[in-house]
Amino acid sequence: MAKIIVTGGTGYIGSHTATELINSGYEVIIVDNLSNSNINVLDGIKKITGIKPVFFKTNLADASETKGFFNHVADADALIHFAAYKAVGESVKHPLKYYRNNLNSLLNVLENMFEKGIKNLIFSSSCTVYGQAENLPVTELSPILKADSPYGNTKQISEEIIRDSIKASTQIKAISLRYFNPIGAHESAEIGELPTGEPNNLVPYITQTAAGIREQLKIFGNDYNTPDGTAIRDYIHVTDLAKAHTAALQRLLNLENKSNYEIFNIGTGEGNSVAEVVRTFEKVTGIKLNTKVVGRRPGDIEKIWADVSLAEKELKWKAEKSLGEALLSAWIREKKYRGI
Ligand code: WQD
Repeated sequence: MAKIIVTGGTGYIGSHTATELINSGYEVIIVDNLSNSNINVLDGIKKITGIKPVFFKTNLADASETKGFFNHVADADALIHFAAYKAVGESVKHPLKYYRNNLNSLLNVLENMFEKGIKNLIFSSSCTVYGQAENLPVTELSPILKADSPYGNTKQISEEIIRDSIKASTQIKAISLRYFNPIGAHESAEIGELPTGEPNNLVPYITQTAAGIREQLKIFGNDYNTPDGTAIRDYIHVTDLAKAHTAALQRLLNLENKSNYEIFNIGTGEGNSVAEVVRTFEKVTGIKLNTKVVGRRPGDIEKIWADVSLAEKELKWKAEKSLGEALLSAWIREKKYRGI
């Protein structure tokens, strides 16, 4: 059974990917510093899969802690690197926190992978590397414009760090998955987004407003050059996103990769505006949301959605769940978590 390290594996996307990996027959080791996640997630994974993954609490931004961790996992077959801060708005307010954490973690992980001979890397990248693309949908060959946020810049720099490391030594093969907007929760509602603190992202803010935890959803701008004036994103169900990781992993383990460093867009290929997301949530849940249009949020781009044809062709993967299904799954999770 192949052994896979999942860094940031108690986080939102990491926990859903760990669940899919276990259900696909992999042995999963989770390492996380729990700075933006809760260890109870392991129990949620166990409820779904019957297996509680081995867990190491480690700050991967710290070189010596990371070295200590890798001494336990030198025989791993692959590593999926999620561990990073990921809120666009927050990164604008706290850039150094983002550069230090996201880049130091990657550097420490890569150094230890080379040292221990762990050959396969899947990197959690982001559509934010594209900035505000001139032409939509974006393909993997779309220009990498200046990032609109420190978060997006850490992903651009990380991709270059991986590219240069693999050029220098072909010992590692890597796939970067450029996620669009992950939303929703596992169908069991046993895992989902971490609901502590005021959410940065749209969908957890919507579900907390629907649950009465937040007074009102602020819509950041309706003066964009879009059909209804609100910003457009490509929202993908987190379970579809998790399955893209198992597809990418199988590609590397089966030696099907066509180069030592490949990049894939992972989205639905559809763009939806904030207003459409609100309307769809209200439709699938029957809940009327209290919303107010306010000014734009610094660091936001106007519109982006993916051309996903490369992942469909090469990974034989395609998003299956609709926006409505994803939003309903988020609401069911919120209700389960809050006991409502
Ligand atoms: C979406 C839209 C906001 C909150 C995310 C992740 C990032 C990356 C890309 C993976 C924007 C609007 C939001 C609110 C609002 N994913 N909004 N009111 O900024 O696209 O980035 O996807 O790497 O990690 O953070 O997502 O959910 O914050 O915003 O109107 O209370 O919703 O302005 O137009 P974003 P988001």
